[in-house]
Amino acid sequence: MTSPIRTERHGDILVVISDNPPVNALSAAVRQGLEAGIKEAQGDSAVKAVVIRCDGRTFFAGADITEFGKPMQEPALPMLVDMIEACDKPVVAAIHGTALGGGCEVALGCHYRIAVPSAKLGFPEVKLGLLPGAGGTQRAPRIAGVPLALEMTAKGDPIPAQKAKDAGLIDRLAGEDSLIEDALAFAGEVIGKTPLPRASLKEAKPDRQAVEEFRKKNARRFRGFDAPAANIACVAKATEVPFREGIEFERQEFMKLMMGVQSAAQRHIFFAERKAQKIDDVPDDVQKRDIARVGVIGAGTMGGGISMNFLSAGIPVTIVEMNREALDRGTGVMRKNYENTAAKGRITADQVEQAMGLLNPTLDFDALADCDLIIEAVYEDMDVKKDIFGRLDKTAKKGAILASNTSYLDINEIAASTSRPEDVLGMHFFSPANVMKLLEVVRGDKTAKDVLATVMALAKKIRKVAVVAGVCHGFIGNRMLMPRQVEAQKLLMEGATPEQIDKVHVEFGMPMGPFQMSDLAGVDIGWHRDPERIESIRDALCAEGRWGQKRQAGFYDYDDRRNPTPSPRVAEIIEDFRKKTGARQHDVTEQEIIERTLYPMVNEGAKILEEGKAQRASDIDVVWIYGYGWPVYRGGPMFWADTVGLKTIVEGLEKHGFDVSPLLRQKAEKGERFN
Ligand code: 3HC
Repeated sequence: MTSPIRTERHGDILVVISDNPPVNALSAAVRQGLEAGIKEAQGDSAVKAVVIRCDGRTFFAGADITEFGKPMQEPALPMLVDMIEACDKPVVAAIHGTALGGGCEVALGCHYRIAVPSAKLGFPEVKLGLLPGAGGTQRAPRIAGVPLALEMTAKGDPIPAQKAKDAGLIDRLAGEDSLIEDALAFAGEVIGKTPLPRASLKEAKPDRQAVEEFRKKNARRFRGFDAPAANIACVAKATEVPFREGIEFERQEFMKLMMGVQSAAQRHIFFAERKAQKIDDVPDDVQKRDIARVGVIGAGTMGGGISMNFLSAGIPVTIVEMNREALDRGTGVMRKNYENTAAKGRITADQVEQAMGLLNPTLDFDALADCDLIIEAVYEDMDVKKDIFGRLDKTAKKGAILASNTSYLDINEIAASTSRPEDVLGMHFFSPANVMKLLEVVRGDKTAKDVLATVMALAKKIRKVAVVAGVCHGFIGNRMLMPRQVEAQKLLMEGATPEQIDKVHVEFGMPMGPFQMSDLAGVDIGWHRDPERIESIRDALCAEGRWGQKRQAGFYDYDDRRNPTPSPRVAEIIEDFRKKTGARQHDVTEQEIIERTLYPMVNEGAKILEEGKAQRASDIDVVWIYGYGWPVYRGGPMFWADTVGLKTIVEGLEKHGFDVSPLLRQKAEKGERFN
């Protein structure tokens, strides 16, 4: 096999070039090639300086994650970085694209760094449940100081080249189109300069206050995760002990994380998210349709949020409402949302105007005629939706994609109200639609392959994570939510309190528990609206106007700032029902709550797989991470089930009398996993 690394001579400069698409991950072959390149430079007196650069779209984007968990081939990355730093000829990193993780560590091992202005540097390891394990936590604070090193390692967001330059992580900015020439010139300039700047020889200034403040400020964000604390500890260590000792500490912490279940879960999600884009029977190169203008029907919360995704990506939107008041209210909310984002400094005032300038609000349904994709986002009523799709069939141009944002309803039935079911599919956004990253793309029986492929590609463009779901009630996410909510209600009857159940879910890592979620979404959603008909606790709450946060009362009482407190009235209602139904009362334990609310979700996930409504278990995990805030360090419900053990899950389900999915049972019996 040819090496992904080649060398070129430019006078007395040796250029070591990596060509390992797509992202120049530091695979064994790349590391071996780089080692050979440095040895070549060391062994040749005619070489006076070295430039390391990459072909393709980016500088090294990190260690090769696919090698994790397998026996490490020499040279290990930390040795390689040390070797580069120890080279007695100046080594210059020439950076474009993203220097990430191990790639950034290679750059910091080099004596000098030059980058194009569009380049970014970062340590995203923490997002994989890891820390920079090739000296990054020790070199970064020595070069850039403790506060920035903490930000970069423990949060994992990359920084732009200019910021890196201000912090000393980059020595010089190259021209955007002249990196190679500028890097050669830079290398030429530093030939013979002594001593060579070696990061390991610098001192990291202790900054205990910065460490404490950083910890405190981000406590909420880091809740439940192991890796941020380990990153912080390593950066702090860099200021306390000599370099070698710090490296030793970093190694130990890295290995602990690498062996742990959290990193396995986070790496699983990294690949799961990318796999989700692939549709088994749709080739990658299928010709996609052009989407130059999007139409949205309904300017309510969902319609507005959906529109914003496209506007932000520079795609014009025609939004249609039934009356002027609703239209104005809807566009007003969109503007306000943009302005709030601008007030936080995340976008500029110009960008607000640019986005809003792409919006065409109208009362004229026929204005949808020139749209390439039309998304219906009106309320959940099959007759209304069928009527709209019937009208769309007459109005939309030939080849336009017709989508419904329904969260439960049958896409096949909706499609059948048109003469072109092949152009119809579901695009289920999650509220708030401009924020939540998940998009369930619902494939009807007749949906054309190019329609699916077009929408999946478009999802990426508007920065959503899209997952394909088959037609079934609630698709993947809401379908799995149902057994959880039902069981949570039953537990109330048997002696648990809403706060007790919610607490177990929050401690598990969910952003909120089933009852907090009900209160936020609206307890009245889907209620029959007959205050006389009281058949459930929910009916009783709704009948008294306890509709959730919007009424400052639901399963909890809320103050003006929406802080919840347990409600004595709700306790009474629950007690009443317990008496009426005569449900068996017992002490509900934390473990029982897990077994009865989370195991059934896994069971439902298995049924979804069995019925072919999801392509793969990892897709289900992606839905729950990005749509419902399942803790990423537990890898999604199906991955989590693997870590619990499928046999244990089946036993738990049987103990509580659930109807176990045959697929789940089969896997448990064979000792298999979902992922
Ligand atoms: N190792 C192996 N494969 C990788 C990879 C890596 N570090 N980074 C990306 N890939 C693969 C992806 O899986 C994907 O494969 P596919 O086409 O088969 O699905 C392909 O490269 C392209 O990736 P994206 O679709 O993500 O491409 P984008 O252009 O959208 O993004 C990127 C590029 C910003 C580099 C993004 O891929 C990314 O964030 N990669 C991960 C970077 C990272 O986490 N680096 C740290 C690794 S850990 C480490 O370095 C440990 C060290 O400290 C010891």
